Amino acid sequence: MLEPTTLHLHTRFQIGEVDPRVFGGFLEHIGRAVYQGVYEPDSPHADEHGFRQDVSAALARLRLTAMRYPGGNFASGYHWLDGVGPRGKRPAVRELAWQSLEPNHFGTDEFIALCRQLDWTPMLTVNLGTGTPEEARNWVEYCNCPPGSLYADMRAANGSPEPHAVKLWCLGNEMDGPWQLGHVPAEHYAIRAQQAGKMMKDTDRSLELVACGSCSIGMGTYMEWDRQVLEYLGDLSDYVSLHRYVGSHAYDTADYLAVTNSIDHQIEEMDAVCRFVQAKRRSKKRAYLCFDEWNVWYKNHQTDGAGKFAPPLVEEIYNLEDALVVAGFLHSFVRHADVLRIANLAQIVNVIAPLLTQGDQLLIQPTFYPLEMFAQRRHGISLQLETQGPRYEGRTHGPAAYIDASAILDGDRLHLFATNRSLDQAAPLRLHLADRAFCALESGEVLGGPDPKAVNTFAQPGQVVPRPFAQVRIEGNQACCELPPLSVAALTLKLA
Ligand code: AHR
Repeated sequence: MLEPTTLHLHTRFQIGEVDPRVFGGFLEHIGRAVYQGVYEPDSPHADEHGFRQDVSAALARLRLTAMRYPGGNFASGYHWLDGVGPRGKRPAVRELAWQSLEPNHFGTDEFIALCRQLDWTPMLTVNLGTGTPEEARNWVEYCNCPPGSLYADMRAANGSPEPHAVKLWCLGNEMDGPWQLGHVPAEHYAIRAQQAGKMMKDTDRSLELVACGSCSIGMGTYMEWDRQVLEYLGDLSDYVSLHRYVGSHAYDTADYLAVTNSIDHQIEEMDAVCRFVQAKRRSKKRAYLCFDEWNVWYKNHQTDGAGKFAPPLVEEIYNLEDALVVAGFLHSFVRHADVLRIANLAQIVNVIAPLLTQGDQLLIQPTFYPLEMFAQRRHGISLQLETQGPRYEGRTHGPAAYIDASAILDGDRLHLFATNRSLDQAAPLRLHLADRAFCALESGEVLGGPDPKAVNTFAQPGQVVPRPFAQVRIEGNQACCELPPLSVAALTLKLA
């Protein structure tokens, strides 16, 4: 048993309101994400639009918000006009990002219909790789303008007289990466993005634009690219993007679970760039953070589609330790609610995703569950949290408290999320809320188990699933419980 940990909170010590868009997702034309993922007209699960209802029902449980589309790397070679209009007239194209055949059966209007069905906020990435600023601007007209001009009339003729009202737009994707179609140095990207962004906002003043940030903390462009781009774009950029994929590269679970330290640092460093640029420009406006790709990804690197339609690419199998790392990302997002406004899990089905399809079957992977546990409790104000308790030394990520935690105040309720990173010891936990008393535990779940490598399979889908957690003792302004080793718990406590 570990030494006890106390989490100190005060309802007045607030970080900021948690933006619901932090619980967003990402749907890219890659592998079987779109075709055989969300869209499969021949499936017995398909509705009248061709959307797989088994997949949609599982995604609905995650209550995802901002949904980024159509890529990713795919976006940098995508021409949106290929994906609208009568399906029989849309071209099949060889797409280069994933070397796959893209039939364009699913495009802008299908994506918007899916967003409406699942209550997602659409977020589109324009092609600043092989596309032109004008093509990006035309897409805005197609989506957002009332009928009466060329592209808005085209949308109406395609069955949507009402504008799609897409407010969130990303100015390209990972443009600092040499693998990106149309990759350019920062100063070239900034010019392209400024030209596109200006015309896009001239077409619809209500747009919010995400400047493409550097794509990885390991790149030489990290931070310097962001500074250059933000300085050049000035007030045009409402957000700057961050990307992060993590993995367990050595057989060292304790170190892997401490990666949250590094996610915290990445957010704080990018925040520093935004503040630096704001100060240098003496501007009233700053860019906020949009973590528009994040996940665990390290086992499957099959990225070459060999010219095929919907080839199985990067179908990562997730285990318990991966699920705990997903919880770590979410803790970090909640703890940075003052500066992080949008985040998109990359991705949602089949491709590095919490859901896998196989024929008519659907599998829920362990990473699904922390997402669901947070989704049920995401509303409210993130509270500062002082952790007093035992720590360990992560091999690459430095000292880490065994308990990694975050908290959200939702009116007269407190949501607490806590991960026990010990591999083999239970953790006694005391929650101390300085200025309010608890009166009851409203709900609680825990996801955990002894084997960090445990997975769910189609044959055994219930190996890693959460169970109810009710062993919480309440005494005035303290709530105590014991977290099993290698687990994440989510509790909702009613305040007196
Ligand atoms: O999410 C998969 C890919 O990872 C995205 O297309 C790209 O932006 C990133 O490198």
